[in-house]
Amino acid sequence: MRLFLDTANIEEIREINRWGVLSGVTTNPTLVGKEGLTPEQVWKDILAEVDGDVSLETTEPQAPAMAEEGRRLAAMGDNAVVKVPMTPAGLQAGSKLVDEGIRINVTLVFSPAQAILAAEIGAYIVSPFLGRIDDAAADGMHALRQICQVYDVQGYDTQVLAASLRHPMHIVDAALAGADIATMPYEVFTKLVKHPLTEQGLEKFQSDWTELRKKLGSTEGA
Ligand code: E4P
Repeated sequence: MRLFLDTANIEEIREINRWGVLSGVTTNPTLVGKEGLTPEQVWKDILAEVDGDVSLETTEPQAPAMAEEGRRLAAMGDNAVVKVPMTPAGLQAGSKLVDEGIRINVTLVFSPAQAILAAEIGAYIVSPFLGRIDDAAADGMHALRQICQVYDVQGYDTQVLAASLRHPMHIVDAALAGADIATMPYEVFTKLVKHPLTEQGLEKFQSDWTELRKKLGSTEGA
């Protein structure tokens, strides 16, 4: 399962990229709006920093304008993936972009029925929003499992990107469900590496090592 960061903050992206585990980035208008720069500058910096897929979201509501916007976004870099919403206009613009060879990510997906539509237009990625399904008192992980199962049974090539993930177990369960990609905020990414036993173990190894060096030092001096 590929790991993506769900952020538009270049510092967060640079830090996680140094770990060697970052395969891509997803952005949305809300995240881009937090950066205090023009969207073009934000996207340009991210596309240059990350080798893998970077999803850039369209905002035009009507299909022809959305498709035109999608072409502009796709032209920003070879690693750009164009996000279109799961709406009739998004499907219309998305299928046009797919026909033109542009990779699209169908976003704001909340059900297996919607995921089938995304696969049928040949989307490169489908993004079910697990956390937001949970927020609506439903079971986001159940929806993800069903989507993965349907895609498997039907042999769809569209990659399943588990989105709106809120904690490390979301990532583990998404991997078990068979998601191709998991995207998560910086706070969740940094939690993946942490375990109290790792911290305790490291502390003990370091203090034992210091002790040994001290002992050897005193023996050498005797
Ligand atoms: C994915 O592409 C979305 O940007 C994202 O995962 C939405 O997550 P949220 O529900 O935490 O805003």
